[in-house]
Amino acid sequence: MIKTFNDGILRDYGTFVVATPRNLPHLNDSPFGLPLNWHIDPLSMASEEFLNLLQRLDALTFGPEGMPMDKWVFYDCAELPGFIYGFAMPASELTAHERELFGASPGYDGPVPISMYIAIPMYEEGTWFGHNLASLNRTFPDRGLHHLGSITKAIAMKAFKVERFVGATQWESKALYIHTKFGPLDLETTYTPAHSIEETLTYAHRVTEDCLRAAAGDPDVTLARPTPDLFLDAHDVEGMRALQDEIQSGARFVLCGAPAIEGASVVHPIHRAG
Ligand SMILES: CC(C)(COP(=O)(O)OP(=O)(O)OC[C@H]1O[C@@H](n2cnc3c(N)ncnc32)[C@H](O)[C@@H]1OP(=O)(O)O)[C@@H](O)C(=O)NCCC(=O)NCCS
Repeated sequence: MIKTFNDGILRDYGTFVVATPRNLPHLNDSPFGLPLNWHIDPLSMASEEFLNLLQRLDALTFGPEGMPMDKWVFYDCAELPGFIYGFAMPASELTAHERELFGASPGYDGPVPISMYIAIPMYEEGTWFGHNLASLNRTFPDRGLHHLGSITKAIAMKAFKVERFVGATQWESKALYIHTKFGPLDLETTYTPAHSIEETLTYAHRVTEDCLRAAAGDPDVTLARPTPDLFLDAHDVEGMRALQDEIQSGARFVLCGAPAIEGASVVHPIHRAG
């Protein structure tokens, strides 16, 4: 079993996967020895309530940040092509307040998701695109769910058998505290007009056993990281564009670690790799 920042999550909560019957055999259904408690088939009417609850989880977490997903996005871009993996608990264990927040139907006694990680396989063998991460850690502060986001992403990547990972996120996103736990990230874009939010970075990295263990919080694993050559302010659009120009001219940059607070600013440590 994996050691994590918060082993209580592994002890007290179950895991689920949303997968079509055709995709399911490609899943590692005991990542790091963790059993799979619930399989949800998106092609079945019986899955309706759980899939509504997943959308509610997304709204409870992403909603305040303005990017909640429509159900067709879940279906077309996640449930049919890829997997959704996360932690859940039986509805009977929700408090009255939590049940109300989720809007679970009165008679429902199935699983209720507290986190989810979505990734989509890319054309290149073993390469996956990270589509969504959500955790109720900060929404349910009394449940002791610290590090749920990091643990969910790390275990999901093991379940999906990801060999190379590609992600896109915003320079201002708190999720960068999580993504950078997986080690140094190669920057494929630093300014991205193709995205609805141009201040988006695209990053990629190899996925190793060590990088998953480090991100989940195994104290026995330390990842090597290059030293930063420059710091990019999370609001410095000109700086993002300048780095993007250099990337397009053949330069390579690596995001070395977590965002740092410098006075009133958030800055990102970047290594020039070539
Ligand atoms: C971002 C999110 C997934 C974090 O979930 P979580 O379970 O709180 O994550 P973790 O506890 O693993 O957090 C990892 C790190 O991020 C930091 N962090 C997370 N959210 C933070 C916030 N709002 N403010 C400051 N730091 C934050 C934590 O302090 C932690 O750092 P540490 O391990 O160095 O102490 C969750 O808040 C969420 O679902 N947000 C909305 C959706 C979203 O932004 N998804 C990511 C886009 S892909």
